[in-house]
Amino acid sequence: MLFGRKKQPAAAVRKIPVHLGIIMDGNGRWAKKRGLPRQAGHVTGAQVFRKITKYCEKCGVRYLTVYAFSTENWRRPQDEVEAIMNLLRQYLKESLADFQQENIVVRFIGSRDELAGDILQLIQEAEASTAHKTGMTLNIALNYGGQQEITAAARCLAQNVAAGELDPAAIDEKLLEQQLYTGDQPPVDLILRPSGEYRLSNFLIWQSAYAEFVFMDDILWPDFKEGDLDRAFEEFARRDRRFGGV
Ligand code: IPE
Ligand code: IPE
Ligand code: MG
Repeated sequence: MLFGRKKQPAAAVRKIPVHLGIIMDGNGRWAKKRGLPRQAGHVTGAQVFRKITKYCEKCGVRYLTVYAFSTENWRRPQDEVEAIMNLLRQYLKESLADFQQENIVVRFIGSRDELAGDILQLIQEAEASTAHKTGMTLNIALNYGGQQEITAAARCLAQNVAAGELDPAAIDEKLLEQQLYTGDQPPVDLILRPSGEYRLSNFLIWQSAYAEFVFMDDILWPDFKEGDLDRAFEEFARRDRRFGGV
Protein backbone atom coordinates (compact mmCIF):
# COMPACT_ATOMS: atom_id res chain seq x y z
CA MET A 1 0.00 0.00 0.00
CA LEU A 2 1.27 3.44 -0.82
CA PHE A 3 1.97 5.80 1.99
CA GLY A 4 -0.93 8.19 2.23
CA ARG A 5 -0.06 11.34 0.40
CA LYS A 6 -0.01 14.41 2.55
CA LYS A 7 -3.34 16.10 2.22
CA GLN A 8 -3.37 19.39 0.36
CA PRO A 9 -3.92 22.21 2.84
CA ALA A 10 -7.54 23.27 2.75
CA ALA A 11 -8.01 26.31 0.55
CA ALA A 12 -7.31 29.29 2.74
CA VAL A 13 -10.65 30.16 4.23
CA ARG A 14 -11.02 33.90 4.32
CA LYS A 15 -11.94 35.30 7.69
CA ILE A 16 -14.42 38.05 7.00
CA PRO A 17 -15.57 40.43 9.75
CA VAL A 18 -19.25 40.10 10.54
CA HIS A 19 -19.48 43.84 11.22
CA LEU A 20 -17.12 46.15 9.35
CA GLY A 21 -16.79 49.87 9.97
CA ILE A 22 -15.19 52.19 7.43
CA ILE A 23 -14.07 55.75 8.08
CA MET A 24 -14.09 57.07 4.53
CA ASP A 25 -11.38 59.68 4.97
CA GLY A 26 -9.03 61.61 2.71
CA ASN A 27 -11.40 63.06 0.09
CA GLY A 28 -10.19 66.63 0.58
CA ARG A 29 -6.48 65.75 0.40
CA TRP A 30 -7.10 63.60 -2.69
CA ALA A 31 -8.65 66.59 -4.46
CA LYS A 32 -5.99 69.00 -3.26
CA LYS A 33 -3.25 66.76 -4.66
CA ARG A 34 -4.90 67.13 -8.06
CA GLY A 35 -5.45 70.87 -7.80
CA LEU A 36 -9.22 70.31 -7.57
CA PRO A 37 -11.76 71.74 -5.11
CA ARG A 38 -12.41 69.53 -2.04
CA GLN A 39 -15.90 68.80 -3.38
CA ALA A 40 -14.36 66.85 -6.26
CA GLY A 41 -12.90 64.48 -3.68
CA HIS A 42 -16.34 63.93 -2.20
CA VAL A 43 -17.79 63.16 -5.65
CA THR A 44 -15.19 60.46 -6.31
CA GLY A 45 -15.43 59.29 -2.69
CA ALA A 46 -19.18 58.74 -3.14
CA GLN A 47 -18.55 56.59 -6.24
CA VAL A 48 -16.01 54.52 -4.34
CA PHE A 49 -18.52 54.10 -1.50
CA ARG A 50 -21.04 52.56 -3.92
CA LYS A 51 -18.46 50.19 -5.38
CA ILE A 52 -17.08 49.08 -2.01
CA THR A 53 -20.57 48.56 -0.55
CA LYS A 54 -21.35 46.10 -3.34
CA TYR A 55 -18.02 44.36 -2.83
CA CYS A 56 -18.62 44.01 0.93
CA GLU A 57 -21.95 42.34 0.25
CA LYS A 58 -20.24 40.00 -2.21
CA CYS A 59 -17.54 39.13 0.33
CA GLY A 60 -20.13 38.13 2.92
CA VAL A 61 -19.92 41.08 5.32
CA ARG A 62 -23.21 41.03 7.27
CA TYR A 63 -23.12 44.57 8.70
CA LEU A 64 -21.29 47.48 7.12
CA THR A 65 -21.21 50.84 8.86
CA VAL A 66 -19.75 53.73 6.86
CA TYR A 67 -18.90 57.12 8.31
CA ALA A 68 -20.39 59.65 5.89
CA PHE A 69 -20.77 62.80 7.99
CA SER A 70 -19.95 63.39 11.64
CA THR A 71 -21.64 65.64 14.20
CA GLU A 72 -18.43 67.70 13.98
CA ASN A 73 -18.42 68.02 10.19
CA TRP A 74 -20.93 70.93 10.37
CA ARG A 75 -17.87 73.01 11.31
CA ARG A 76 -16.74 72.90 7.69
CA PRO A 77 -17.36 75.77 5.25
CA GLN A 78 -21.02 75.97 4.30
CA ASP A 79 -20.41 75.28 0.61
CA GLU A 80 -18.61 72.03 1.45
CA VAL A 81 -21.41 70.90 3.79
CA GLU A 82 -23.94 71.70 1.06
CA ALA A 83 -21.94 69.76 -1.53
CA ILE A 84 -21.87 66.71 0.74
CA MET A 85 -25.63 66.94 1.40
CA ASN A 86 -26.29 67.28 -2.34
CA LEU A 87 -24.24 64.16 -3.02
CA LEU A 88 -26.31 62.35 -0.43
CA ARG A 89 -29.54 63.52 -2.10
CA GLN A 90 -28.25 62.31 -5.46
CA TYR A 91 -27.14 58.97 -4.02
CA LEU A 92 -30.49 58.36 -2.35
CA LYS A 93 -32.54 59.31 -5.41
CA GLU A 94 -30.46 57.17 -7.74
CA SER A 95 -30.23 54.26 -5.35
CA LEU A 96 -33.91 53.91 -4.49
CA ALA A 97 -34.37 51.77 -7.60
CA ASP A 98 -31.06 49.96 -7.04
CA PHE A 99 -32.05 49.11 -3.49
CA GLN A 100 -35.05 47.20 -4.85
CA GLN A 101 -32.79 44.90 -6.82
CA GLU A 102 -30.11 44.45 -4.23
CA ASN A 103 -30.58 42.43 -1.10
CA ILE A 104 -29.36 45.18 1.24
CA VAL A 105 -31.05 46.63 4.30
CA VAL A 106 -30.30 50.36 4.44
CA ARG A 107 -30.27 52.15 7.77
CA PHE A 108 -29.20 55.63 8.76
CA ILE A 109 -27.57 56.17 12.14
CA GLY A 110 -27.05 59.56 13.72
CA SER A 111 -29.21 62.45 14.86
CA ARG A 112 -31.98 63.38 12.44
CA ASP A 113 -32.86 66.68 14.10
CA GLU A 114 -30.53 68.85 12.03
CA LEU A 115 -31.23 67.23 8.65
CA ALA A 116 -33.16 68.95 5.84
CA GLY A 117 -36.77 67.82 5.36
CA ASP A 118 -36.28 66.36 1.89
CA ILE A 119 -33.25 64.36 3.01
CA LEU A 120 -35.25 62.98 5.92
CA GLN A 121 -37.98 61.94 3.50
CA LEU A 122 -35.48 60.15 1.24
CA ILE A 123 -33.90 58.42 4.23
CA GLN A 124 -37.28 57.17 5.41
CA GLU A 125 -38.09 55.89 1.91
CA ALA A 126 -34.76 54.08 1.64
CA GLU A 127 -35.21 52.49 5.05
CA ALA A 128 -38.84 51.52 4.47
CA SER A 129 -38.20 50.03 1.04
CA THR A 130 -35.32 47.83 2.24
CA ALA A 131 -36.45 46.85 5.74
CA HIS A 132 -37.68 43.44 4.57
CA LYS A 133 -34.43 42.49 2.80
CA THR A 134 -32.37 39.61 4.13
CA GLY A 135 -28.84 40.47 2.98
CA MET A 136 -26.20 42.79 4.36
CA THR A 137 -27.24 45.68 6.59
CA LEU A 138 -25.69 48.96 5.47
CA ASN A 139 -25.61 51.57 8.22
CA ILE A 140 -24.87 55.02 6.86
CA ALA A 141 -23.56 57.19 9.70
CA LEU A 142 -24.88 60.64 8.93
CA ASN A 143 -24.76 63.47 11.44
CA TYR A 144 -23.37 60.72 13.66
CA GLY A 145 -21.21 61.08 16.75
CA GLY A 146 -20.51 58.31 19.23
CA GLN A 147 -20.64 60.71 22.17
CA GLN A 148 -24.00 62.09 21.00
CA GLU A 149 -25.27 58.51 20.61
CA ILE A 150 -24.27 57.46 24.14
CA THR A 151 -25.61 60.72 25.60
CA ALA A 152 -28.97 60.19 23.88
CA ALA A 153 -29.07 56.61 25.20
CA ALA A 154 -28.35 57.81 28.76
CA ARG A 155 -31.02 60.50 28.46
CA CYS A 156 -33.56 57.94 27.33
CA LEU A 157 -32.82 55.67 30.29
CA ALA A 158 -32.95 58.66 32.67
CA GLN A 159 -36.40 59.55 31.32
CA ASN A 160 -37.56 56.00 31.98
CA VAL A 161 -36.25 56.22 35.53
CA ALA A 162 -37.93 59.62 36.04
CA ALA A 163 -41.21 58.16 34.80
CA GLY A 164 -40.92 55.38 37.36
CA GLU A 165 -40.64 52.74 34.65
CA LEU A 166 -37.05 51.75 35.27
CA ASP A 167 -35.05 50.88 38.38
CA PRO A 168 -31.57 52.49 38.14
CA ALA A 169 -30.13 49.22 39.49
CA ALA A 170 -31.39 47.50 36.33
CA ILE A 171 -29.17 49.64 34.10
CA ASP A 172 -26.32 47.51 32.80
CA GLU A 173 -24.17 47.48 29.65
CA LYS A 174 -26.72 45.44 27.76
CA LEU A 175 -29.58 47.82 28.49
CA LEU A 176 -27.56 50.87 27.50
CA GLU A 177 -26.35 49.13 24.35
CA GLN A 178 -29.94 48.42 23.32
CA GLN A 179 -30.58 52.18 23.20
CA LEU A 180 -27.81 52.76 20.65
CA TYR A 181 -28.62 53.13 16.95
CA THR A 182 -26.99 49.74 16.41
CA GLY A 183 -28.70 48.20 19.46
CA ASP A 184 -29.99 45.20 17.49
CA GLN A 185 -26.66 44.52 15.76
CA PRO A 186 -23.44 42.75 16.74
CA PRO A 187 -20.43 44.83 17.84
CA VAL A 188 -18.00 46.01 15.20
CA ASP A 189 -15.18 43.54 14.42
CA LEU A 190 -12.94 45.63 12.21
CA ILE A 191 -12.57 49.35 11.65
CA LEU A 192 -10.74 50.56 8.57
CA ARG A 193 -9.44 54.04 8.08
CA PRO A 194 -7.47 55.13 5.05
CA SER A 195 -5.68 58.49 4.75
CA GLY A 196 -3.08 58.18 7.50
CA GLU A 197 -5.09 59.44 10.48
CA TYR A 198 -4.86 57.09 13.43
CA ARG A 199 -8.00 58.02 15.32
CA LEU A 200 -11.70 57.20 15.60
CA SER A 201 -12.99 60.78 15.29
CA ASN A 202 -16.07 59.90 17.38
CA PHE A 203 -17.02 56.86 15.25
CA LEU A 204 -18.67 53.83 16.95
CA ILE A 205 -16.82 54.48 20.20
CA TRP A 206 -18.99 52.07 22.21
CA GLN A 207 -19.34 49.41 19.53
CA SER A 208 -15.59 49.25 18.85
CA ALA A 209 -14.58 48.27 22.41
CA TYR A 210 -13.05 45.05 21.05
CA ALA A 211 -12.71 45.94 17.38
CA GLU A 212 -9.53 45.43 15.42
CA PHE A 213 -8.15 48.53 13.70
CA VAL A 214 -6.52 48.71 10.31
CA PHE A 215 -5.20 52.16 9.54
CA MET A 216 -4.09 52.34 5.94
CA ASP A 217 -1.73 55.25 5.58
CA ASP A 218 -0.77 54.60 1.97
CA ILE A 219 -4.16 55.38 0.48
CA LEU A 220 -6.85 58.08 0.41
CA TRP A 221 -10.51 57.03 0.25
CA PRO A 222 -11.16 58.10 -3.39
CA ASP A 223 -8.34 55.74 -4.50
CA PHE A 224 -9.67 52.82 -2.44
CA LYS A 225 -10.10 49.60 -4.46
CA GLU A 226 -11.53 46.15 -3.84
CA GLY A 227 -7.97 44.86 -3.46
CA ASP A 228 -7.42 47.26 -0.54
CA LEU A 229 -10.35 45.67 1.23
CA ASP A 230 -8.84 42.24 0.57
CA ARG A 231 -5.59 43.52 2.11
CA ALA A 232 -7.44 44.67 5.20
CA PHE A 233 -9.28 41.34 5.50
CA GLU A 234 -5.96 39.50 5.27
CA GLU A 235 -4.59 41.64 8.08
CA PHE A 236 -7.76 41.05 10.11
CA ALA A 237 -7.41 37.28 9.62
CA ARG A 238 -3.92 37.42 11.16
CA ARG A 239 -5.13 39.12 14.34
CA ASP A 240 -5.47 37.10 17.51
CA ARG A 241 -8.64 38.31 19.19
CA ARG A 242 -8.72 37.40 22.84
CA PHE A 243 -11.52 39.56 24.26
CA GLY A 244 -9.76 39.65 27.61
CA GLY A 245 -9.34 35.90 27.76
CA VAL A 246 -6.21 33.90 27.07
C1 IPE B 1 -13.86 62.46 4.46
O1 IPE B 1 -12.87 63.14 3.76
C2 IPE B 1 -15.25 62.87 4.07
C3 IPE B 1 -15.98 63.62 5.10
C4 IPE B 1 -15.53 63.93 6.28
C5 IPE B 1 -17.31 64.03 4.75
P1 IPE B 1 -12.34 64.55 4.25
O2 IPE B 1 -13.19 65.61 3.66
O3 IPE B 1 -12.22 64.58 5.74
O4 IPE B 1 -10.90 64.58 3.59
P2 IPE B 1 -9.58 65.13 4.25
O5 IPE B 1 -9.39 64.40 5.53
O6 IPE B 1 -9.77 66.60 4.47
O7 IPE B 1 -8.51 64.83 3.26
C1 IPE C 1 -14.25 61.62 10.12
O1 IPE C 1 -13.32 62.27 9.34
C2 IPE C 1 -15.61 61.77 9.53
C3 IPE C 1 -15.84 61.11 8.26
C4 IPE C 1 -14.98 60.43 7.57
C5 IPE C 1 -17.16 61.28 7.75
P1 IPE C 1 -12.82 63.75 9.67
O2 IPE C 1 -11.94 64.12 8.54
O3 IPE C 1 -13.96 64.64 9.94
O4 IPE C 1 -12.00 63.54 11.01
P2 IPE C 1 -10.85 64.41 11.66
O5 IPE C 1 -11.33 65.83 11.70
O6 IPE C 1 -9.64 64.28 10.78
O7 IPE C 1 -10.63 63.80 13.01
MG1 MG D 1 -10.74 64.01 7.00
